[in-house]
Amino acid sequence: MTVTPDPVHEAPTPLGTTARDHLWMHFTRLSAYADGGVPVIVRGDGPYVYDQDGRRYLDGLSGLFVVQAGHGRREIAQAAARQAEQLAFFPLWSYAHPTAIELAERMAGYAPGDLNRIFFTTGGSEAVESAWKLARQYFKKTGKPNKHKVVSRDIAYHGTTMGALSVTSLPGIKADFEPLVPGAIKVPNTNFYRAPEHGDDLEAFSVWAAEEIRRAIDREGPETVAAVYLEPVQNSGGCFPPPPQYFQRVRQICDEYDVLLVSDEVICAFGRLGEWFGAQRYDYQPDIVTVAKGLTSGYAPLGAMIASDRLIEPFLHGTESFAHGITFGGHPVSCAVAMANLDVFEREDLLGNVRRNTDAFRSTLEKLYDLPIVGDVRGDGYFFGIELVKDKASRETFDDAESERLLRGFLSKALFDAGLYCRADDRGDPVVQLAPPLTCDQQHFDEMEQILRDVLTEAWKRL
Ligand SMILES: Cc1ncc(COP(=O)(O)O)c(C=O)c1O
Repeated sequence: MTVTPDPVHEAPTPLGTTARDHLWMHFTRLSAYADGGVPVIVRGDGPYVYDQDGRRYLDGLSGLFVVQAGHGRREIAQAAARQAEQLAFFPLWSYAHPTAIELAERMAGYAPGDLNRIFFTTGGSEAVESAWKLARQYFKKTGKPNKHKVVSRDIAYHGTTMGALSVTSLPGIKADFEPLVPGAIKVPNTNFYRAPEHGDDLEAFSVWAAEEIRRAIDREGPETVAAVYLEPVQNSGGCFPPPPQYFQRVRQICDEYDVLLVSDEVICAFGRLGEWFGAQRYDYQPDIVTVAKGLTSGYAPLGAMIASDRLIEPFLHGTESFAHGITFGGHPVSCAVAMANLDVFEREDLLGNVRRNTDAFRSTLEKLYDLPIVGDVRGDGYFFGIELVKDKASRETFDDAESERLLRGFLSKALFDAGLYCRADDRGDPVVQLAPPLTCDQQHFDEMEQILRDVLTEAWKRL
């Protein structure tokens, strides 16, 4: 199964043909490129990227929720070059290097409460995986050895390595890899648009969704449950924000049952929601935060698990250690890049830019409500999903064949051809997702709206 529909591009190019022959694109139906028409992006500048024919595209997805600071930042590239020259590599296995130390201190300073300990990885899946292993080992060390299960929400994506894939709740990308790691429990997500039984009562919905976590823990046996993984705004399914007080309720439930709250912020941290961390946006205190993507704006790969003082405590004594490591976790070049990226965040007040512009972004996208195909516009910060429906009044969605025809057959390619790179996704109900660089402003929102308007109008005609 493909996760991101294929933006098939007609014209085969020499590089596209070589890509077809030798490159294994991720989550991609390779048959879609049998003619060698793989789109090849060669350059980026601010919120735009360019293909090898010089055509410009607005990067409405920041690559893959990554390029917060925008493309083409020379100072970040130079920080990488300087670090590679000074010290290209040394591991964090019993040793340390200055950029990892400085970055860890800086991230702990941004993180809420006592999230003071940074375990670096190379990406998000490894961070999610690390958090599960930490939760298991922590409880083994503290007299609750049976606590090993994790709870996560329907349709949520938490990565692809076997542990992270088990936390992920997308049957279509799991089935072929079964049996997965046992003990990954699923609960409902916060898709209010698809919760008609709660009418317009967000408060009741919030209580229900949080209590579903309690019910799952009760059902499994609290003595077996180690952690709950939640994204501040759930990406997969199309940007589900939390209803009011949801996280406060979940926090309380986790405290009652001694279950760790893992805030998976691989997308939501580093400004996506206008704060350093999504937990700050919604005012809750996680035990662990997982990050990646925006930490470096993608100028080099890096992820991290940020753990609270309580969780490091058992590992501070005697012969104890967290029995886990990754060669390239906290790579010096990646850490130097992250420092330079965070300098840009501070100097240009990227968090403030998102906060100041969120309402404008939302209301620009909400103009699309006049189109019959637009059912719901939802999200927060610079992170929005537009759910497409067949019937606005009944909220009827598309069947599989229609979805295939609409998203894969038409929308992705048409949006791309019209100059907008974004995501048309049907892992839940069909949505178009937008997560532009944090430097964007009204002119870019208007550009997105205009392209979406034209292409969605055409899509409706073709249905
Ligand atoms: C919430 C979340 N967790 C984990 C991951 C996995 O990250 P990576 O692709 O860097 O392994 C992703 C990737 O999109 C994600 O969105």
